[in-house]
Amino acid sequence: MIDYEVLCERAILARESAYAPYSGFKVGASLLTGSGKIYSGCNVENSSFGATICAERVAFGSAMADNERDFCAIAIVGALDGRDLDFTPPCGICLQVMSELCDEDFEVILINSLYEHKIYKLGELLPNGFRL
Ligand code: THU
Repeated sequence: MIDYEVLCERAILARESAYAPYSGFKVGASLLTGSGKIYSGCNVENSSFGATICAERVAFGSAMADNERDFCAIAIVGALDGRDLDFTPPCGICLQVMSELCDEDFEVILINSLYEHKIYKLGELLPNGFRL
């Protein structure tokens, strides 16, 4: 049984590292591999806004650089200062990256600041995604 509680805690911890001086919206993500390893990411913003990298893609990049290719689940937590009750689903670009590297049963766990969570399959969030 995969321990999603630990995965969620790691996402919350990663959010503390977020660099978000422009939006004030801090995101943490933690990615679980088939071998049980966890790779974390936070969003890294840039004054040239298009250069901003989402937390999810930072986590995937870190895992890929460690030669991991087998991904089971990702936990994501986002919060705008003072208004942090909402869930943060992955943006379209992050969903496209997930569809490249994961199968449709890959699980996306969204957490809010009350520690409530929702679990989706990638196939639900991006049905009929583009693939070559
Ligand atoms: N953001 C993420 O890190 N992940 C998402 O899936 C949604 C958006 C970040 C990018 C930007 O730094 C901030 O949230 C506001 O869009």
